[in-house]
Amino acid sequence: KPPIVVRDFATALGLKPFRLISELNQAGGFASMNSNIDEAIATKVAEKHGFLLEIKHRGEPGVQQQAQKKEKQVEEDESKFLVSRPPVVCILGHVDHGKTSLLDAIRKANVAAGEAGGITQHIGAYQIEYQGRKITFLDTPGHAAFSKMRARGANVTDIAVLVVAADDGFMPQTDEALKHAQNAKVALVVAVNKMDVKGANLDQVKAQMQQRNIAPEDWGGETITVPVAATKGQGIDSLIEMILLQADVLELKANPKAEASGVVIESQVDVGRGPLATVIVQRGTLRVGDALVCGACYARVRAMFNDQGENVKEATPAAPVRVIGWSGTPESGAIFKAVKNAREAEKLAEEEQLRLRKAATASDATPKEVSVEQLF
Ligand code: GTP
Ligand code: MG
Repeated sequence: KPPIVVRDFATALGLKPFRLISELNQAGGFASMNSNIDEAIATKVAEKHGFLLEIKHRGEPGVQQQAQKKEKQVEEDESKFLVSRPPVVCILGHVDHGKTSLLDAIRKANVAAGEAGGITQHIGAYQIEYQGRKITFLDTPGHAAFSKMRARGANVTDIAVLVVAADDGFMPQTDEALKHAQNAKVALVVAVNKMDVKGANLDQVKAQMQQRNIAPEDWGGETITVPVAATKGQGIDSLIEMILLQADVLELKANPKAEASGVVIESQVDVGRGPLATVIVQRGTLRVGDALVCGACYARVRAMFNDQGENVKEATPAAPVRVIGWSGTPESGAIFKAVKNAREAEKLAEEEQLRLRKAATASDATPKEVSVEQLF
């Protein structure tokens, strides 16, 4: 059998080599990049990371391929549990083009649909129901938050609504936002806002879209384009309908029966209730009592609230909820997942803390100049 070399094994497991080395050393070894790993130990490490070790000779599929196969199997098995889920939408655009007004108008359309009197709490995201279908909106202050989340690998958004003021047309931040949406490969809906103002020019905006290779549907392109006037509440219904249409095309699905996981939208400390985090569930169902790990933080879900401030017992895919019971404030964009129990969550969070501390020490210790140790 060929030897299991640290460097290759780390690659096969998708781990950073130093992470694997530290794990091996914790288990009492003295591993370095080119060390060989004992098969029994390798099996354990692989298992811990959810892999099945299978040693193959050169040219045959190795650990990685085997692992991929296993994962695919899981996906296939899961497909029968997949049910459609609401889209997660964010609104992007140039300053003052009406992002906030549009969010408000959409929220109002929802209130008019029967939730009158409900006091909406700002939790960073909210969900509306339109003709029996839900849509989650991220209440982001702009594309800065959007790209921050993306930088963390958290692609929580399915659809980006690009707001373009009908009088101004495309502006620098419109283009920047468009670039972000395209890089994130999210579906695009263009809302041409301020259609009520003097100087509104829908055709000019459409021409600008065409120049940017996102020609509107009625110009032979594929981009859904909806003229609106946010402050007048005009066109809001069709915008929502178009978002739902786009969601249908995307066939968004999730398995509500899986272990819960998702993304942190924002977090803060409440004087009375301690750290709070608004999360969006992406997979599975999050329930009160669940144990969560999120980077170096963990939680035992004590209580959850929806965007109406109501106590909820569970949250299904795409639902935004505010969670109480955290050990600290997880960062926005961080991924959380449910684990067996609170002890496991705490253990995993501590491991991550340790790893972060080590990484920090390691980078602090990186010599700017050649040190005495290096010379010897
Ligand atoms: P920032 O958050 O600062 O980037 O701005 P924003 O994109 O959220 O724009 P906001 O919703 O704050 O709107 C900016 C200004 O445009 C406000 O004075 C709004 O009242 C006005 N406005 C927004 N939508 C419309 C519209 O459809 N028609 C008219 N006439 N004014 C609008
Ligand atoms: Mg705003």
